[in-house]
Amino acid sequence: MTQQAHYDRIADVFVRNLDEPHTEEYSALFDRLLLEAIPDGPLGYIGEICCGRGEALRLLGNRPELEVTGGIGIDISSAMLDAARLHHPDDRFVFVQGDATDLPLADEVLDHVFVLGGIHHVNDRATMFAEIHRVLKPGGCFFWREPLNDFFLWRWLRAIVYRLSPTLDGDTEHPLHTMQTRQQLAGAGLDLVHWRTCGGIGYCLFMNSDVLVVNRLLRHLPGIRRIARAAVSLDERLLRLPWLRHTGLQVVGAARKPVRASSDP
Ligand SMILES: C[S@@+](CC[C@H](N)C(=O)[O-])C[C@H]1O[C@@H](n2cnc3c(N)ncnc32)[C@H](O)[C@@H]1O
Repeated sequence: MTQQAHYDRIADVFVRNLDEPHTEEYSALFDRLLLEAIPDGPLGYIGEICCGRGEALRLLGNRPELEVTGGIGIDISSAMLDAARLHHPDDRFVFVQGDATDLPLADEVLDHVFVLGGIHHVNDRATMFAEIHRVLKPGGCFFWREPLNDFFLWRWLRAIVYRLSPTLDGDTEHPLHTMQTRQQLAGAGLDLVHWRTCGGIGYCLFMNSDVLVVNRLLRHLPGIRRIARAAVSLDERLLRLPWLRHTGLQVVGAARKPVRASSDP
């Protein structure tokens, strides 16, 4: 499979990027927005699909108030799963190789599902969403954070960067569009309950060190953590302006699998 070979090849670069100081600072924004999307109550047994190193399991598992009892990370790439196992000494979590369009799970076994940066790699989204619906318990939620291509400027920029960077694959990676994603979720029987765009200029500069050498070099800049935090704050302020609200580079969202009516079989 193209994605499997691709991530087996770039796993080292991808994982190293996650530990860059400016990536950590900018990622804290995404973590915060994901946590804000999660309603109160115990999370129970969770799944992270396209888990890579298992960033969602790490974030959620470290928060006792979220009451994560255990979880499974699923990814197509064995190199990414090796990184996940190294990164997670926590024995509540297991990591299994599998395809997002054919999940190695029984029906209705997960309380909630998380995907961070994985949906845009899966071209058959109808099947992926149907699989997530199948493995979720009724009432459970599917949470994601993904690149968004609604705004023309980012769409053009991405088209160029996807062609130039050896760590991206422009033929198989397709960021989300709002209307299309809404329809695909509805088609899989999932009710959209949360949709918040985020990420602007700061995201371009301080994320993507796996993609752009120039971003990687920023680690040598004195005070880089402070600068990255200032960029987060600027991006957040800009995206609060009414005419910029829909121009985020990323979207944090959630969709719920409806609880069956008592008359359903
Ligand atoms: C951009 S990385 C995100 C990794 C991780 N979620 C994170 O936030 O760091 C995308 C991940 O999706 C995985 N992936 C791509 N296509 C997949 C598929 N069809 N099924 C399962 N995993 C897949 C890749 O191997 C890779 O680990």
